[in-house]
Amino acid sequence: MGRDVIIACDFSSKEEVLHFLSKFEKEKPFVKIGMELFYAEGPEIVKTIKKMGHKIFLDLKLHDIPNTVKKSMSVLSGLDVDMCNVHASGTKAMMSAALEGLRRADGTRPLLIAVTQLTSTSEDVMRQELLIDEPIEKTVMHYAKNTMEAGLDGVVCSPLEAEAVHRICGEAFLTITPGVRFADGDVGDQKRVTTPEKAKELGSDYIVVGRPITQAADPVAAYLRCVKEFVG
Ligand code: C5P
Repeated sequence: MGRDVIIACDFSSKEEVLHFLSKFEKEKPFVKIGMELFYAEGPEIVKTIKKMGHKIFLDLKLHDIPNTVKKSMSVLSGLDVDMCNVHASGTKAMMSAALEGLRRADGTRPLLIAVTQLTSTSEDVMRQELLIDEPIEKTVMHYAKNTMEAGLDGVVCSPLEAEAVHRICGEAFLTITPGVRFADGDVGDQKRVTTPEKAKELGSDYIVVGRPITQAADPVAAYLRCVKEFVG
């Protein structure tokens, strides 16, 4: 798969997400389905959107003992999603088990990526609550290396970290990057943002874009602008 724009469909019901996707008549964007929508609507929403012809990143961030994650991943793989994820802090053993669980009988599997350190966790919280006495950047890069060693395809990270991740884990290792805003758009609650064009320059493989597309007056135009700036 090449560079692509993934729309974060952070909606709370089937009606809302299907209304949003109905605006896309010609294009079939890659979409991200998160916990809120999945827990509200269940696996049916994944099957419905897949049937409409979209690629799906199922963002459920699994984190449990290896055996449980393996079996759960096997169920998710059966939904024919294209990408799913785990927490790298679940250990290399858990990540390898997840990978095994994803493999389908025909040898194919969805891409598997890992969340390193959540951007909502500060270095202070890491030190005081989690007892991780290291700079946050070092932890992120260490988790990325663990992810690569476990055989996964990439990590979720800031576009500003993409270059360093590629340096440590290789160019083929995927960087999936949220925190993207248009140069003339609202930043909202995101702290460190880059434009689609800058994310491309920094080497992101996929950008995850939510509100700049979902809340736009013309979502299709906003999506196409993202694709033009990021994919070219
Ligand atoms: O609306 P916005 O473009 O900020 O949406 C970004 C998406 O990426 C949301 O679904 C958010 O949960 C997700 N995300 C993020 N930062 C991370 C990990 C995931 O913004 N570190």
